[in-house]
Amino acid sequence: VAAPVRIAVAGALGKMGRSLLKVGAADPQVKIVGAWQRPESSLLGKDSGELAGIGRLEVPLAGGPQEALFKSQVAIDFTSPTATLKLLPLALQMKRSLVIGTTGFEPKDFAQVKAAAKKIPIVLSSNYSVGVNLLWKALDMVARITRDDYDIEVIEAHHNAKKDSPSGTAMTTAEVLAKAVGRDLGTWARYGRAKGNIGARDFREIGLHTVRGGDIVGDHTVLFAGKGERLEFKHQAHSRDNFALGAVRAAKWLVQKKKKAGLYAMADVLGF
Ligand SMILES: NC(=O)c1ccc[n+]([C@@H]2O[C@H](COP(=O)([O-])OP(=O)(O)OC[C@H]3O[C@@H](n4cnc5c(N)ncnc54)[C@H](OP(=O)(O)O)[C@@H]3O)[C@@H](O)[C@H]2O)c1
Repeated sequence: VAAPVRIAVAGALGKMGRSLLKVGAADPQVKIVGAWQRPESSLLGKDSGELAGIGRLEVPLAGGPQEALFKSQVAIDFTSPTATLKLLPLALQMKRSLVIGTTGFEPKDFAQVKAAAKKIPIVLSSNYSVGVNLLWKALDMVARITRDDYDIEVIEAHHNAKKDSPSGTAMTTAEVLAKAVGRDLGTWARYGRAKGNIGARDFREIGLHTVRGGDIVGDHTVLFAGKGERLEFKHQAHSRDNFALGAVRAAKWLVQKKKKAGLYAMADVLGF
């Protein structure tokens, strides 16, 4: 049997961090070897498994990535753009693979991730769920056929603590759709619509709408509205575990398949 893949978890006290520790600890092909949080955290040194509510892991919560990276083969990062960008130079220096789930990057931030991926293997996805990746695949096919005959709108809903809008998943969804119908998203994205006489809809618009409330884990609906009918595609996440499962799958894929430096998507991990 192959040795377990040694994984370090960034932002281990976050919602995704805890879910990653839980999923990783339950996977016999994985060993969690490090977990870190901000240096200011009052919980440093405590057992990360106990903090995540999954029992002892014998992995003390660290105040930074150094030691966790050193012990690991791959780090999984669902934190914030600032924290992820700070991790890149260290991962480069230590030649560690990364699975990045953070969303809300600016275009210039992506350039940094891309540059790093020339030297280390990185999986980057705004959504690690298998279902959403299948949705993207299906939407690409549908939009290539419906083209300009159906109006496209993307509606997303998340919990009230989410900071970025629209969600990274909604943005990727809109990019998949724009590419499929041959439009520039920068020109045709419409973020919500204002009150008042806003005029008729241009058929080229791709609407993006944000709903925030309660503890909604993540819903994405894509509407293709044509003449006399409409199609709706919907994905609903029930818990964060599906993202964590996908991210751990990506981490194992990088190590077990001995992936070379490069920027990979979840579609690569899933083999489509
Ligand atoms: N790609 C996907 O499939 C997917 C799925 C779900 C979420 N996400 C994204 O993942 C990110 C995290 O989401 P979440 O819901 O888990 O948020 P969260 O609960 O706020 O967790 C983020 C964690 O990262 C920590 N952190 C921030 N800066 C840090 C640093 N410099 N060093 C160490 N830890 C740091 C935060 O600590 P503090 O509390 O001290 O700030 C917090 O514990 C967001 O960008 C979200 O959009 C992506």
